[in-house]
Amino acid sequence: MAHIVGGLATSHVPSIGAAIARNETETPYWKPFFDAFKPVHTWLEHARPDIAVVLYNDHGLNFFLNNLPTFALGAAATYQNADEGWGIPILPSFTGEPRLSWHLANALVEQEFDISTCQEMLVDHAFTLPLKLMFPDAGDHWPVKVVPVSINSIQHPLPRPHRCWNFGTVIGEAIRDWQSDAKVVVVATGGLSHQLDGTRAGFINAEFDRFCLDSIIDRPELLARLSTAEIIEKAGSQGIELMTWIAMRGALPKGIHQVSSTYHVPVSNTGGAVLLLETAHQPSAALERV
Ligand code: DHB
Ligand code: FE
Repeated sequence: MAHIVGGLATSHVPSIGAAIARNETETPYWKPFFDAFKPVHTWLEHARPDIAVVLYNDHGLNFFLNNLPTFALGAAATYQNADEGWGIPILPSFTGEPRLSWHLANALVEQEFDISTCQEMLVDHAFTLPLKLMFPDAGDHWPVKVVPVSINSIQHPLPRPHRCWNFGTVIGEAIRDWQSDAKVVVVATGGLSHQLDGTRAGFINAEFDRFCLDSIIDRPELLARLSTAEIIEKAGSQGIELMTWIAMRGALPKGIHQVSSTYHVPVSNTGGAVLLLETAHQPSAALERV
């Protein structure tokens, strides 16, 4: 059976890519955010996952408003990055793990999540930058295979947070049931609070972000039970990317411990957060649907 070794959640602003390209990672502005990945690197060296299942939200690169699935599951052999217009370098392509993708597709549809399966899928900054932050020295060869999973967070109606939680629990159970000895890390990217448009542009709510970082470990139902409107009110209209974190936590078992948690404001227009959770070595109970 495959084993989920841990969960990583991180913010994903495009200017992270620009900071890497311009060698600015040690500047006072960026250093606190990039330093948050030092414990992640140490952990990855030890945990050595084979596959990353990445819960993220496409921002208009692969899907646009004319064609926008609620839940989209990558089922390709490779995934390309492409120019999104942010001026950040295009990263090398990623190798998929279609066997796990189709196993997840079967489990999700069986459990009434009628996902789109994507045998071609471009991956945007929300997918590529977290991988680059995890593996800064990867060059052309990423050390993990990937399964991208995009959750619509740009065009309403959005899936409700509790539905993202349930979606994550099905993914977690399916990974643990997969006939493979692969080690899997579940990655969530997005958030925390930010709003890029409208009269509240620039809005960040550090208090709510810290509440998310704390409660997602032992009381994740406090987040899963919030409504979409409540999250947008507390975290900003793009802070709704928190849905990916909720889904990631749903995929992990009950028994986890925090390896590291970092919060730094602002990272571009966003409350910058990085949270690494490790699963217990002994199998522990799965979380329940809510
Ligand atoms: C920013 C944040 C995002 O999540 C994103 O997708 C694009 C930009 C920002 O803070 O600049
Ligand atoms: Fe985003």
